[in-house]
Amino acid sequence: MRICIVGAGYVGLTTAAALADFGHEVLCVDMEESKINSLRQGKVPIYEPGLDDLITKNVKNNKLFFSSLVEESIKEYPVILIAVGTPSKDDGSSNLMFVHRVIDVIASTTNVYKIIITKSTVPPGTNEWIHKRLIEKGIDEDLFDVVSNPEFLREGFALRDLYHPNKIVFGTKTSRPIKNLKKLYYRGKAPYIFTSLTGAELIKYASNAFLATKISFANEMARICDAYEVDYDDIAKGIGTDPRIGRYFLNSGLGFGGSCLPKDLSSLKHSAVKKNVETKLLDAVREVNDTQIDLYLNKLTTELPDLTGKRITIWGVTFKPDTDDLRSSPAVMMIKKLLEKGCQVHAYDPMVQLELTGVYSHTNQYESVKNSDALIISTEWQQFLETDWAEVKSRMKGTIVLDARNCLDGKLVRKFGFLYLRIG
Ligand code: UDX
Ligand code: UDX
Repeated sequence: MRICIVGAGYVGLTTAAALADFGHEVLCVDMEESKINSLRQGKVPIYEPGLDDLITKNVKNNKLFFSSLVEESIKEYPVILIAVGTPSKDDGSSNLMFVHRVIDVIASTTNVYKIIITKSTVPPGTNEWIHKRLIEKGIDEDLFDVVSNPEFLREGFALRDLYHPNKIVFGTKTSRPIKNLKKLYYRGKAPYIFTSLTGAELIKYASNAFLATKISFANEMARICDAYEVDYDDIAKGIGTDPRIGRYFLNSGLGFGGSCLPKDLSSLKHSAVKKNVETKLLDAVREVNDTQIDLYLNKLTTELPDLTGKRITIWGVTFKPDTDDLRSSPAVMMIKKLLEKGCQVHAYDPMVQLELTGVYSHTNQYESVKNSDALIISTEWQQFLETDWAEVKSRMKGTIVLDARNCLDGKLVRKFGFLYLRIG
């Protein structure tokens, strides 16, 4: 198939590379000319494991192309896949400005049949609105099908998720596009889930809301474990072996961040309230998450009561490992709180040099701890799990290691003379 993907961000770009690799002709367009120019020069603007090679391979095979000519490209291609951002507005609802813009371009250029696939996460009712909007703009219903096809890609594992999906969701209004949709992805053993446009939109929100709920549950359990001096990992292991619960997404720590979970939780709440549905559970999930950072800071101040002027090193600034994404990063929020308390903050991340006033960003993990009073692990990069603790000890001034992702072997760290802190 010939597919035009609008939006060369984390989702659009990885999907474009994979679809080209599955054999389609894919044109990835973005309004940001500089992004397209660098992609054309073989420079990938984001870090996603395996993406560089996949793009290079498919550009070479004449399967993947890039363009900043959004209108012309949309006009020319029979399948349009929308992957523009849908960020949160101040009231928690989704900003659909970019999606609307794409729909208006589609409306002004469509004169032969097109399949319009919404991959961006959009609130319930949006794809129905898209269908109505195109008709209002004078496009005959015979000339298009709108499809809601949410993504479930985890940053850092996006390609793996594209090659080994656990389901493929398509929301449609009629069965007309289904034959073509079945040619789109590599399915493996994954089931197709066909539903309505709004059903598909809600599967996406329910999925991320459930994942967020699991994390907040884990964090609340870790708080209780902490009070009873029980190792939370034993609890996660103990309940995780029950297939009804499962071990995934039970890791406690600084809480969930990133471009999706916080945004989708707010947007789902907004959509529910609009229809007078109360969201007590979602509110509690949010509240637990919003208080995790303070909880860790309290843990730190029990050992270091006055943080003013203290030199604190943070390892990990992205919202999770194996990405360069800083959007809604709990680590960055933690850093800002430490700065407010008058700390001298030093940061090290394997992928990102944080540019934030008042923060000293390092390029070397061990250099970053020099003369520090405390070290905080805020993202569980593999590199941190393999730390040479003797080296760290020899460079630090203090002895506090606060493991804010419960990812280290506490016994091992203590052996080197550190005061190892965690919650649970
Ligand atoms: C995606 C989804 O689209 C979002 O709805 C989902 O919830 C998270 O994942 P993401 O790929 O992370 O978003 O967004 P981003 O990395 O910001 O990429 C969006 C791209 O679209 C940007 O490169 C931007 O320049 C481009 N864009 C935006 C357009 O080309 N045209 C527009 O009108 C708006
Ligand atoms: C998420 C969804 O998982 C994915 O399906 C898609 O819808 C996009 O949004 P992503 O944002 O890439 O993916 O990250 P994810 O792996 O879900 O992690 C989100 C946050 O939760 C991170 O900050 C992570 O550190 C945190 N997390 C995750 C925990 O705190 N504990 C866990 O056990 C798992």
